Amino acid sequence: MLKLALLTSLVTANAYIWPSPQLDALEALRWDQDRNGITALIQPCDFFIFGSAKSGRSNAADWIRTVFHDMATHNKADGTGGMDASIRFAEEQGRPKASFALRDGFSNTVAVLQPVANRYISIADALAVGAILAIENCAGPEIAFRGGRVDAAEPNLPGVPEPQQDLDSHIASFARQGFTQTEMIGLVAYILSAEFSIRRSPILCPELNDPSNTQSVAHFDTTNTHFDNRVATEYIAGTTQNPLVVGLNQTTNSDKRIFGSDGNATMRSFANSPDLFASTCADLFARMIDTVPAGVQLTEVITPLPVKPHNLNLILAANNTIQFSGEVRLWNVAEDADPVVRLLWDDRTGRKTNNVTVVQDSVVTVSGGRYNAAWYVFDHIATPALARLDAVAGITSIRFTVDNKLEDQGGVGFAVQDDIMFAASSCFTLDSNNGDTGRFDVAVRTGVDPTRVYLEQSARDSVDRPTTIEIDLTPHPVDPNATFGIWSITQALSFTSFTIGAEIGGAKVTRGLPTSVFGFGQCSQVE
Ligand SMILES: *[C@@H]1O[C@H](CO)[C@@H](O)[C@H](O)[C@H]1NC(C)=O
Ligand SMILES: *[C@@H]1O[C@H](CO)[C@@H](O)[C@H](O)[C@H]1NC(C)=O
Ligand SMILES: *[C@@H]1O[C@H](CO)[C@@H](O)[C@H](O)[C@H]1NC(C)=O
Ligand SMILES: *[C@@H]1O[C@H](CO)[C@@H](O)[C@H](O)[C@H]1NC(C)=O
Ligand SMILES: *[C@@H]1O[C@H](CO)[C@@H](O)[C@H](O)[C@H]1NC(C)=O
Repeated sequence: MLKLALLTSLVTANAYIWPSPQLDALEALRWDQDRNGITALIQPCDFFIFGSAKSGRSNAADWIRTVFHDMATHNKADGTGGMDASIRFAEEQGRPKASFALRDGFSNTVAVLQPVANRYISIADALAVGAILAIENCAGPEIAFRGGRVDAAEPNLPGVPEPQQDLDSHIASFARQGFTQTEMIGLVAYILSAEFSIRRSPILCPELNDPSNTQSVAHFDTTNTHFDNRVATEYIAGTTQNPLVVGLNQTTNSDKRIFGSDGNATMRSFANSPDLFASTCADLFARMIDTVPAGVQLTEVITPLPVKPHNLNLILAANNTIQFSGEVRLWNVAEDADPVVRLLWDDRTGRKTNNVTVVQDSVVTVSGGRYNAAWYVFDHIATPALARLDAVAGITSIRFTVDNKLEDQGGVGFAVQDDIMFAASSCFTLDSNNGDTGRFDVAVRTGVDPTRVYLEQSARDSVDRPTTIEIDLTPHPVDPNATFGIWSITQALSFTSFTIGAEIGGAKVTRGLPTSVFGFGQCSQVE
């Protein structure tokens, strides 16, 4: 049992204090790879969701290529362009300068990664994480991720380099994006070539491909499902198949010009050292995805929290009780770790000895086998004691012990909001005469006094950026002696999930997990 090794000390350096809605979401996207929906699309590394593996295409390569094209519009001098998901606009995808790439790779990438975006995760952040995970899960290096990119409302000015341009144009183009000549060589080696299976266009390399077969692909090295330095070793050895080096038309042999522009010094150093190739790649790639328009403020590097509560939820249930449920993730545990984990909680009475043992759900491996995360659940089945907390006492903060070692964020604890929550009296009515309806009841603790309570629904604005629709609820008559007052809305029945929003003292707060009214009972049975 106790082969436990909690190797958490290495990863705590930049950790933030939980909770932070945006950082929690970004951290989960970056590190909870078994559940973020992204990693499944790049395992195995040559998996291609839009066609057969035989096409030589892969989601991973498309994602890497897409972030380069999104970034390459950056103009360091005037601060415009950069990683802002402007590549999602058809106008950018259709530009002549993008024609050497497999253009549908951009729309494919946006189609699969955009759904990950929400009010805390911009589309550009989703694209950045997709490319990081593509590299990381294809045996490439781990790349630092910062969040907070802002999605553009319109296409950027053109700026992607073209293969038929001369060396001076390429040096100038990368300088405009903020990269030196040596960095250009590295970026081209990684982004334009080491994306394992790569673009071709009938215009660019007809000598290598049948122009009528738009799915055929010229690989840039022989290990096209694996991220390594072969792009450099094969180039130096003179055995490269890179069509931008050995193409018959010298005009479009841009990689040959770029790689040779320092007498092959950079490429030789990569060929001689896989480690240098990997570390330089990680640094340059991080700089590339952090190339954002002026004024955009990125977060600190998102490192995994050693102990992280997740999906916490409270529901006001019958007889003035609260159901509390959630999960906790222990980061970087041994694969066979099964420590005794206890959840402790403080309540409004100041009591600090409440505690319950929580149950291990799974140990998952992420980041291409680098880390294990252990998940523990607490819900009305696994931990019945949490299904009927006294609503008056409530719950204000939680802590954990892991084999008796206290995990409380250095004494801060993990704050829990027990002021506003869905009530279990929410219900739906099936009515073939007047139309099916759902009623959401939201419980608001007496004394909180919000000016508004509303349902929040995820939506997209006219240019596809994540946004939130607010649907106001109506308060029931107030009983000052009740622990909670109720706000309600009855509306046409739908599967839509909502979180709760409220305005308290002029500030907006969000509570609860996305919840469908089907999570509750039929009204006739509840009342
Ligand atoms: C070589 O490529 C350039 C740029 O695409 C093109 O203008 C030129 O006609 C090509 N030359 C040959 C011989 O195909
Ligand atoms: C770089 O190396 C390649 C492959 O060995 C060779 O063909 C080319 O001439 C070299 N370029 C320079 C500038 O040394
Ligand atoms: C609420 O309390 C009443 C009276 O003690 C009991 O009959 C009922 O089963 C309780 N309801 C629930 C959902 O526990
Ligand atoms: C856990 O709860 C028990 C009573 O159920 C109590 O005796 C014990 O002190 C609690 N442990 C902690 C660490 O608070
Ligand atoms: C609230 O409680 C007080 C004291 O028990 C009582 O006098 C009062 O009538 C109650 N008010 C309501 C609205 O029930």
